[in-house]
Amino acid sequence: MASAGFCKKVCVTGAGGFVASSLVKLLLSKGYFVHGTVRQPGNEKYDFLLKLEPSENLKLFKADLLNYESLYSAIVGCSAVFHVASPVEVVEPAVKGTTNVLKASLEAKVERVVFVSSISAVFMNPQLSKEKLIDESCWSDKEYCKKTEGHASFTRIFLLLMQNWYCYSKTEAESQALDFAKRTGLAVVTICPTLILGPVLQSTVANASSLILLKLLKGCESLENKQRWIVDVRDLADAILMAYEKPEAEGRYLCNAHSIKTQELVEKLRTLYPNYSYPKNYTEVDDYKRLSSEKLQSLGWRYRPLEETLVDSVESYKEAGFLESK
Ligand SMILES: NC(=O)c1ccc[n+]([C@@H]2O[C@H](COP(=O)([O-])OP(=O)(O)OC[C@H]3O[C@@H](n4cnc5c(N)ncnc54)[C@H](OP(=O)(O)O)[C@@H]3O)[C@@H](O)[C@H]2O)c1
Repeated sequence: MASAGFCKKVCVTGAGGFVASSLVKLLLSKGYFVHGTVRQPGNEKYDFLLKLEPSENLKLFKADLLNYESLYSAIVGCSAVFHVASPVEVVEPAVKGTTNVLKASLEAKVERVVFVSSISAVFMNPQLSKEKLIDESCWSDKEYCKKTEGHASFTRIFLLLMQNWYCYSKTEAESQALDFAKRTGLAVVTICPTLILGPVLQSTVANASSLILLKLLKGCESLENKQRWIVDVRDLADAILMAYEKPEAEGRYLCNAHSIKTQELVEKLRTLYPNYSYPKNYTEVDDYKRLSSEKLQSLGWRYRPLEETLVDSVESYKEAGFLESK
């Protein structure tokens, strides 16, 4: 696998997204030449990508996950593919799109594909007892995902993020990716992040997970005092790159840094930024579960303190103007 500092070509799908853009920034800083896929090249929402340095090492390709040829054009010639793009509208692009990315990667003979899955592919399973330490051996139950209602929550977008078709599609896409790897010999590593916070690079729209933090800052009457698992987008980008650069990386990796109750999270924010509105009341929820990222840590992964993630998130929202309106 690659070691940092020389110009290997790699492809990042959905380069304009929250996670993917942070990864593109990291890759460019490490000397990689990046092929980034976007659906609407020329759209001003990608302008921020063109400002990342060194800008001559980033090339944007028009590609849709459902269009094999467009993906192949972006992937051919690359040593690695980081498959980050995921639609929030329907299941098909998540599953079929992943298959397209894997087939194109196999045809283009890439060394390794790193697929960004989700904790949603891990813990949605009624068989998981409270005592069970959630690790890479755990899978969400696809039938259960399909049958159950999404978690009621406090933003429409978060509702979308947590609706169970999302759990279903991430579970299906990740398991198909690992099966594809077994069948074909293509090296595939998957990363399952929890709620991703941290600085946004875009200034047009906030992604679903940033909206969760924004909602806390803008306040609301009442909230469930749920357990939150949180990872910083920059630490996740490190994990994704490690999954490529470390030859010993294999299979899946849970990627979580902090476990905290919502009310405690709000109190941390209030200490750092006393002047925002913040939620007023909480209803208790008995949803405690233990989660382990030990496998990733044993690859050498480290994460930053939560306070740093919160401050850098809020400062980036201010800069993007996300905190200006309700
Ligand atoms: N955010 C979280 O808390 C969280 C937690 C766990 C896992 N994840 C996973 O992390 C990944 C990135 O999430 P994110 O928060 O960075 O999402 P995001 O900011 O909404 O970005 C999603 C990206 O997917 C692209 N996309 C959507 N449909 C596509 C299609 N049909 N063809 C090609 N590209 C398509 C979008 O491209 P355009 O720019 O062209 O619209 C966008 O760049 C996803 O796989 C998500 O499931 C996220």
